[in-house]
Amino acid sequence: VQTATLDFEIMPTSTPTPEADRLKAFENLGFGTLFTDHMAVIKWNVDKGWHSAQVTARTPFQIDPASSVLHYAQEIFEGMKAYRTADGRAVLFRPEENARRFNESAHRMAMPELPEGDFIAAVEKLVQLDARWIPEGDSSLYLRPFMFASEVFLGVRKATDFIFCVIASPVGPYFKGGMKPVTIWVSQNYTRAAVGGTGAAKCGGNYASSLAAQAEAAAQGCDQVVFLDAVEHRWVEELGGMNVFFVMDDNTLVTPPVAGTILPGITRKSLIELARDNGLTVEERPYSYDDWKADAASGKLKEAFACGTAAVVAGIGTVKHQGGEFKIGDGQTGPVTTKLRSALVDIQRCSAPDTHGWVHVL
Ligand code: PLP
Ligand code: COI
Repeated sequence: VQTATLDFEIMPTSTPTPEADRLKAFENLGFGTLFTDHMAVIKWNVDKGWHSAQVTARTPFQIDPASSVLHYAQEIFEGMKAYRTADGRAVLFRPEENARRFNESAHRMAMPELPEGDFIAAVEKLVQLDARWIPEGDSSLYLRPFMFASEVFLGVRKATDFIFCVIASPVGPYFKGGMKPVTIWVSQNYTRAAVGGTGAAKCGGNYASSLAAQAEAAAQGCDQVVFLDAVEHRWVEELGGMNVFFVMDDNTLVTPPVAGTILPGITRKSLIELARDNGLTVEERPYSYDDWKADAASGKLKEAFACGTAAVVAGIGTVKHQGGEFKIGDGQTGPVTTKLRSALVDIQRCSAPDTHGWVHVL
C-alpha cells in the first residue's frame, strides 16, 4: 500500500443528527437512501496536486454548470463497507483492494491517482467520526468513495481540477426480497462493454449505459440484468452491478474471466479463494449462454449466484429471456451458495478466523 501523504483537518458538524432520529431511521434500512453526518473531501489541481484534505459536515457541492464532469462524465467510484462485529469493533474488508482498483479506474479515465494510503485514511477518518452510524447485525455502513472532474471548461481533454469525496450510507439488504433468490433478465438488446472500452473501470458511465437494460429487466419483473459479450453476444459477462458464478454437479465453480470487459470484483476474488479453501475447483473461463440454458435443463448446473459488495452473495433462482424463462436447480438458493456466503460474511464480521488477513480493524 502506497503511504499516506496528507494531513486531514477534522471538522465535526455542529448539528449532528439527534440520536432518536438515527435510531428511528435504523429500524428500516434499505439501500442508499440514508446518509451519515459527515463526508471526507480531498481536492486535486494540476499545479498543487492533492491538497485540502478534510472530514467535514455532509453538505451539497456548489459546482459550476460548465464543470466538465457534467458534460463528459469524467467520474469514478468505489463501493465498500464498514461492519460492526459482535464484540463491538468497527472493521473494513480489504480496503487496500478498493484503493488499488480506484487507481486503476483513475488511470483508465485519465484522472489523477490518489496514493492508496490517503484513500484508506479518508475512509478510516470518516468511519471513525461517523462510527455510531455503523449498524449491527446483518446491516452495514456502505462507503462510497468517488472522484469527479470539477474544472470549468467545455473543451474535451482531461481536466485540471478534481474532487475526491467519501460519503457513507447505513444499509440493509440490496434486494427488496432480502435473502430470497433473485430473478435475472438476459439482455438481448444491450451490451455493457467491449474490449478496449471501460468495462473493467468503475466509472459512472458504465452504470448510466446499463440503466436502460436494468429498466427492461425491472419491467420484466427481474431484479437484475445479465449482460452477454459485445462481439458474439454469446458469452456471459456479469450483472449490472455484480459478478456471477455457476456451481456444477461435480463441485466445480465456473466464473467468467476478468479480461477487460467486466469489473474485477473484490467479492469475486475473495470467493474464489474461499471456494478453493473449501475444496472446490474454480475455473475462470468463458461460459456461454447456450451452455447455461443446456446445463440448467440437464441438471449439470446446480446453482448460480451473483456477488458484490452491495449484494454480498445472492442465489439466482430464475433466468428470464425474450421468449421464456428457466429455473436453476429447484429455483432456491443452493447449499454451495449458502456455504460460500457464510464463509465470506463470517470473516467480514469477525465471527470466523481471518486466515487471509483481509480484515482491517479501525
Ligand atoms: N460488477 C459490477 C458491474 C459492479 O458494480 C460490482 C460492484 O461493485 C461488482 C461487479 C462487484 O464488485 P465488488 O465485489 O468489488 O463489490
Ligand atoms: C457495489 O456493490 O458496491 C456496487 O457498486 C454495485 C451497485 C449495484 C451498488
